[in-house]
Amino acid sequence: MNMSSTNVIIFDTTLRDGEQSPGASMSRDEKVRIAKILEEMRVDVIEAGFAVASQGDFEAVEAVAREVKDSIVCSLARAIRADIDRAAEALKPARRKRIHTFIATSPLHMQHKLQMEPYRVYEIVIDSVTRARGFVDDVEWSAEDATRSDPDFLCRCVEAAIKAGARTINIPDTVGYTVPEEHHALIKMLFNRVPNIDKAVVSVHCHNDLGLAVANSLAAVQAGARQVECTINGLGERAGNAAMEEIVMALRTRKDYMPFNTNIRAEMIARASHTVSATTGFAVQPNKAIVGANAFAHESGIHQDGMLKNAQTYEIMTPESVGVKTSNLVMGKHSGRHAFRAKLEDLGFDLGDNAVEEAFARFKTLADRKREVRDEDLVALVDDTVIRGNDRIKLVNLEITCGTRIMRPEAELELEVDGELRKCRAIGDGPVDATFNAIKDLTTRTQHLRTYQVQAVTEGTDAQAQATVRLEEDGKTVMGQGSDVDTLVASARAYIHALNKLLVKRQKTAPAPQSAAG
Ligand code: KIV
Ligand code: ZN
Repeated sequence: MNMSSTNVIIFDTTLRDGEQSPGASMSRDEKVRIAKILEEMRVDVIEAGFAVASQGDFEAVEAVAREVKDSIVCSLARAIRADIDRAAEALKPARRKRIHTFIATSPLHMQHKLQMEPYRVYEIVIDSVTRARGFVDDVEWSAEDATRSDPDFLCRCVEAAIKAGARTINIPDTVGYTVPEEHHALIKMLFNRVPNIDKAVVSVHCHNDLGLAVANSLAAVQAGARQVECTINGLGERAGNAAMEEIVMALRTRKDYMPFNTNIRAEMIARASHTVSATTGFAVQPNKAIVGANAFAHESGIHQDGMLKNAQTYEIMTPESVGVKTSNLVMGKHSGRHAFRAKLEDLGFDLGDNAVEEAFARFKTLADRKREVRDEDLVALVDDTVIRGNDRIKLVNLEITCGTRIMRPEAELELEVDGELRKCRAIGDGPVDATFNAIKDLTTRTQHLRTYQVQAVTEGTDAQAQATVRLEEDGKTVMGQGSDVDTLVASARAYIHALNKLLVKRQKTAPAPQSAAG
C-alpha cells in the first residue's frame, strides 16, 4: 500500500478486544446496535468478535455481518484451521468481509505459550494466511507480541504473510510495553527491511498498560502505518486499547503536525461513547480525554474569563465537533411526543415506534419529578429503555419502607423474568441491601456483589442518579448501569442490568483449546 496516502484506516475492535475486558461481555443484539453506530460513524473495519470462541460469539459475528453493509466486518481467528473456517462461516452474510488471523512471534510467547520452535511458527503463518485466503481476499495477519519479537524473525514472518496473501499486516503491542520512539523505529524498520511491504497496509494495535497506546499509535502512523486498531472509550484487555476518539481527534486537531485523515464522523463520538458505556456498564471517567463529563468543562475563574473573551484560549476543539451539545436546556412536562421524538433524533437516536413510546412514558414520569430534563437525562433514560430492551429480567415495580424509625428496611419488588411476573418482599441492613436481597430472592444467588457506586447525572437535588454494579461469579465479572431520579430504583436497575449480562455470559461457553487473544 502506498504509504504516501494520507488516509488512516480506522479498525474498531470494541466488539472483540473491548469485549475481552473483564465484565464487558455483550449480547448479540447489543453488538449489532453498537456495530450500526460504528458503521454510521464510517468506521472502515469493524472487528465483530472471535467466531470460534463460543456459539454466542459466532452468532454475534454472523448477525453483525448480516446487518452492516458499508464497513468491512471482520472476525478474529487463531492460526488454527478450525478457527479460520469458523470465522469464514460466520462472515458469510457480510457484503465486505475480512478474516484476521494471528500467531505470536515473540520468544516468550513461542516458547512458553505455544511451545513451538520459530520455524514451526513460520510455517503456520504461511499455512494460516493461505487458508484464510481460500475464503476471502481481505486477510489481515497479526504478529502477536510483535513489539517483544526478534526483529529479524518478525521481518521474515511479515514477508511470508504478505507472500501468502495477507493484505494487512498488524503489529500489536500486545502487552502495552513499547514507547513512541521505539514504536516509530519498529514500523520504519519494517518499511526498510521487508522487501514486499508495499503490497500490504501496515497496521498497529496498541494496548495501554503504560498509558501510551494512543501516543504509540500516532508515532506508528508518522512512520508509515496506515491502519490503527482502537476501541471506543479505550475499552479492552487489562488497561485497554488505544481510544478511537483520541486517535481521531488528535489527527484532526493537530493536522498541522500530522497531515492525515480518517473517514470518521467525529460528531458521532459522544453518542458512541455513551452507548458503549451504557451497554457494557463501564462508566467513563470524568476527566477522560474527549468523552469525559469534564472534557469541556471550565470551572476556574481565570479559565472562564478567558473562555468568555475567546473560546480558543482554553479550548483546542469544540464540544460540538465530537457531538457534545452545550445549550442543552431541553424538555419539560408539557413537551409532547412530537418534540420528544425530534429531540431524540437530534441526540442521534434512531428508535422504533415501540421504543419511542416506552421512552416517552418514562420521560413523562421523569418530567413530573424533575423540573428541567436535560440532554444527559434523556440519554440516560433512553440508554436504560432501549439498551435493556431485550433483557430477560426486567424491573416492574419497587417500593421501599425505610427511615430513622425502621430498624430493618423492607423492599417489595416485582420483576418480569422471561415473561413471567414474580413478586416478593425482603429485608436488609439498609434499603439498598433490602433491594438487592429481593432481586436475589427472585432470581439467582450464585453471584457476589463486588462494587456498587452511585453518581448524579446532572446537577441539583432533583438530579437523576446513575448507579453502577459489578457482580462476580466463578471468577467472571459483569458490570451493570441504571439510572432514575430515585437512587434505589437506579440501584435496582443497575443490579438487574448486571444480572442480565451474567445470563449472557453463562450462555457463552468457551470451547477454545488455547487462551483467548489479548
Ligand atoms: O493484543 C493483541 O495482540 C491482539 C491480537 C490478537 C491482534 O489483540
Ligand atoms: Zn489486543
